[in-house]
Amino acid sequence: MNKLDAELSLGLLQEEGYKIVDKVDEADVILFYTCSVRQHAEDKVYSHLGALKTLKKRRPEVIVGVLGCMAQKDGETIFKRMPHVDLVCGTRMFSRLPEMLLKIRNHGSRVLAIDEDQIVNVKRAVTYRLNFYQAFVTVMRGCDNYCSYCIVPYVRGREISRTIADVKEEVQSLVSNGCREVTLLGQNINSYGKGLRGNVTLGDLLTELNEIDGLDRIRFVTSHPADMSRGLIRTISRLEKVCEYLHMPAQSGSDEVLKRMRRGYPAGYYRDLISYARELIPHLTVASDFIVGFPGETEEDFQETVRLMEDIRFQNCFIFKYSPRTGTKAAELKDDVPDETKRARNLKLLELQKKISLEENTKMIGKKVDVLVEGASKSNPNRLSGRTRQNHIVVFNGSQDLVGKLAGVVIHEVTDLTLFGLLIGCG
Ligand code: 5AD
Ligand code: SF4
Repeated sequence: MNKLDAELSLGLLQEEGYKIVDKVDEADVILFYTCSVRQHAEDKVYSHLGALKTLKKRRPEVIVGVLGCMAQKDGETIFKRMPHVDLVCGTRMFSRLPEMLLKIRNHGSRVLAIDEDQIVNVKRAVTYRLNFYQAFVTVMRGCDNYCSYCIVPYVRGREISRTIADVKEEVQSLVSNGCREVTLLGQNINSYGKGLRGNVTLGDLLTELNEIDGLDRIRFVTSHPADMSRGLIRTISRLEKVCEYLHMPAQSGSDEVLKRMRRGYPAGYYRDLISYARELIPHLTVASDFIVGFPGETEEDFQETVRLMEDIRFQNCFIFKYSPRTGTKAAELKDDVPDETKRARNLKLLELQKKISLEENTKMIGKKVDVLVEGASKSNPNRLSGRTRQNHIVVFNGSQDLVGKLAGVVIHEVTDLTLFGLLIGCG
């Protein structure tokens, strides 16, 4: 979502004549899109901001701005900690970025914009796009779930969904500009439609988008197990453009921890849901997030998480050490798992996932996969890189004119992160 908000902002600024430069030293405006989900993310931003002090001394006319969740959460405090910052702009105000920058430039005054009652309304300018064949599209913002550890509902606000008509118009315009894959974004995307007229659901939105000619793939993130209905799984299984990939964080395998996290489901429910989805959607891959070291997590609780991971065999997992966030319910609990234990558990899950990913990827050897080609491979610019519908990264031979096309590739070698293959055709 930060990437997309940055992309939308760059679009707005480009329309005003701003240009993107490669080096910080050449910039007149430097903007940070920030995350507050863990302390580590915030520390990194403060350290980047600190590093700009000398540049700002040398060139005081440079505008330094902090946007997004950390701006929303810390507000005025950012100016106090980092006096060389000119702009603090929260999660719902960035559509006014051009006028804010103008005000700072013309009046030399700082701007603090963290109004909570605003509704984000940014008309997408197709002038600035990272890729022309692939796009993120926000379909809802905010979250009403209040998982006990999570700052998102406080910084992103209540759930607000865009109408199907609005989303469809945006996707159609992207497709007419060459886009072939969209990833729909929402912090809690399964409750898309809440508050809209006519009881619309994510299934209705996917069904509508599935009709768009020229669009090949639809993805959506992030799914919450408690809000993921079986009806939605059935709908996905019927829609040929919706990819066989679910990012549905389990967070823990322990019922006790899940209860304290206020996730609203026990581990058994999660297992059943995945079994049901796998029955209906052949070749489905599943990714998850896990938090280790949540307050009160015992070794036995942790082993339950290990078991869940072993049983489900995720394609990919993001594993985080618990980080208390002031203002959340969990921050009232004692952060009693020592950092050393958090680190050891984190490492153990990473290693387990690596082993599972390698085993699962090995099963792909000799198979043909369809790849949407994204560009040159980062590790070897002479090769191409892209993704399968199941979100595997594939590196293979081929010329640059395949970028943005669908290619058929046979896999001959794998690591835990990448499939390597040979091109056999494109379409
Ligand atoms: N500490 C650690 N991880 C967190 N996440 C959210 N809040 C916290 C926190 N306080 C993780 C969850 C979520 C992902 C985006 O970040 O796993 O799914
Ligand atoms: Fe945070 Fe996701 Fe829970 Fe919402 S559903 S509170 S964004 S972890």
